[in-house]
Amino acid sequence: MFLSYFLVLVFSFHCGLSATCPRRCSCDPAQSVQCYRATGIPREIPFTTRRLYISHSKIKQLQITDFRRMPALEELVLSCSGTESIENNTFKALSTLKSLELYKNQLKQIPTFLPPGLEILKLADNSINTLHASDFEGLMKLRVLDIRNNLIATLPPSAFSSLCNLQSLILDGNKVESVSAPLKLPKLKYLSMVDNKLNSFPTDFFVSFQNLQFLSLSGNFLTKVPLALPKSLLSLKLEKNQLKTVRLQDMKHLENLSEFFLTENQLTSIDGAQLLPNLTRLELSKNQLHTMPLRLPSRLQKLDCSNNLIQRVTAQDFQGLQDLKHLFLDNNAVRSFEAGALQQCAQLSNLALEQNLLVSIPLRQVDTLARLDLKGNDIEGIGEQELKDLKQLQVLNLRNNKISALDGKVLEYLPRLRQLYLDGNPWNCTCDLLRTRRALVAKGTDVRGGQCAAPAESRGESWMSSRKILQQCGDHLSSLERVKEERKKMKASEIDDDYYDYELD
Ligand SMILES: *[C@@H]1O[C@H](CO)[C@@H](O)[C@H](O)[C@H]1NC(C)=O
Ligand SMILES: *[C@@H]1O[C@H](CO)[C@@H](O)[C@H](O)[C@H]1NC(C)=O
Ligand SMILES: *[C@@H]1O[C@H](CO)[C@@H](O)[C@H](O)[C@H]1NC(C)=O
Ligand SMILES: *[C@@H]1O[C@H](CO)[C@@H](O)[C@H](O)[C@H]1NC(C)=O
Repeated sequence: MFLSYFLVLVFSFHCGLSATCPRRCSCDPAQSVQCYRATGIPREIPFTTRRLYISHSKIKQLQITDFRRMPALEELVLSCSGTESIENNTFKALSTLKSLELYKNQLKQIPTFLPPGLEILKLADNSINTLHASDFEGLMKLRVLDIRNNLIATLPPSAFSSLCNLQSLILDGNKVESVSAPLKLPKLKYLSMVDNKLNSFPTDFFVSFQNLQFLSLSGNFLTKVPLALPKSLLSLKLEKNQLKTVRLQDMKHLENLSEFFLTENQLTSIDGAQLLPNLTRLELSKNQLHTMPLRLPSRLQKLDCSNNLIQRVTAQDFQGLQDLKHLFLDNNAVRSFEAGALQQCAQLSNLALEQNLLVSIPLRQVDTLARLDLKGNDIEGIGEQELKDLKQLQVLNLRNNKISALDGKVLEYLPRLRQLYLDGNPWNCTCDLLRTRRALVAKGTDVRGGQCAAPAESRGESWMSSRKILQQCGDHLSSLERVKEERKKMKASEIDDDYYDYELD
């Protein structure tokens, strides 16, 4: 009797403190255990384990007995393990458990009887199709609930009634078609319901979200911006819906809204965003705008109107936008761009005008521009007038236009030019163009020159590097220049295609 008691003592001493680690697991001194390719929850997990990570295993079912010997467990992650079911009360006794992640499994329901100390619950990528009223009962400390990519179709408000401390709720990639009564989540800051099937919200749905800052409803079937959105919002995403109009009048209480994403809707016009005084970023790409947005807010820093049907740009459109840094108007039908239209935008650094119908570079640009993209327009020539203001310009893209000649002198107006794209133009490789080539080489600009279209004997030659056209001009570069040119060529071929970093800084 005494002997067997002694043996048990020795045995548990051995297991607990000498930290034997189960097969296919690795254990570290900070009480973390990681296991792969397990066929069940390993039996000999050290008693003191605080974090247990299991993935790429085959564990069809979890049972109460699996976690009985883990009294210190704080974080449990079990992913990619084919788990289908969890016995009632499996986690109930884990009083120290704060974070439970069971993503990429085959669960059909929320695990029952979760411990009340739980703060984070992530069940993404399972097959959960129903939420029950009791699923989150008693989880008053829960801060993060992530059930994205499941099969949930309805949200019973009673399921969420315990979650008085929930800050982040992620329901992306489910099948929610409608929501009825408001959810009472007073601490919620982040709500995401991307890629569901929502077509509307009841008017009172958002009333209890007094602290909501980030709301994303992209990828649904909304035809209207939900009404009575919380005043606390900083960011609103409504991309990929079916909005035809946005009534900014109904949103003017959103005094702190800073980002508004409306990409991929069916808007034909937008007017009055100046009612949102703190808006710094407005995304309107891939709509059907025929005109520039009217009455924009003065704090705007980034405006994306690319991929629309805009034909005209005027100074009126940019009245008072002195903070604008990034303007995207590419892939429209802009034919007319008023001279000096952007004069008030004294911070503008990126201007994207590629894939439009411009026949010349718009005049009187702001001198702060660092990048100007005019690829794919109908520009036939470049003169001194068009470039003389661009003292800060570093990247100029004129690829795929109709330019055949370029006077080297106009480039002297661009002291900071680093990259110049000229390929895809019908170059007439005259000896004048070779002089321009020499000027560019001397300046050290990275140039994509492209090929000659004329005269006939030079057709297809690369005018920045061809020796043949040099000889035709009877011109001879000094050996020094030739070395320089070779170096230039090598450098240019190392650089990636026209990579632009348009991030806000
Ligand atoms: C598990 O708990 C649920 C909810 O209390 C109950 O309906 C169900 O019968 C229980 N299952 C088993 C196998 O005891
Ligand atoms: C707007 O932001 C300010 C500053 O962060 C904050 O004090 C204020 O409460 C916010 N307004 C609303 C309605 O949340
Ligand atoms: C929003 O604008 C108001 C008034 O212009 C200002 O008092 C408030 O601090 C701004 N909030 C933020 C977050 O910038
Ligand atoms: C190329 O330039 C030469 C010299 O200016 C001119 O005579 C010729 O017509 C031009 N060719 C084309 C195709 O524009």
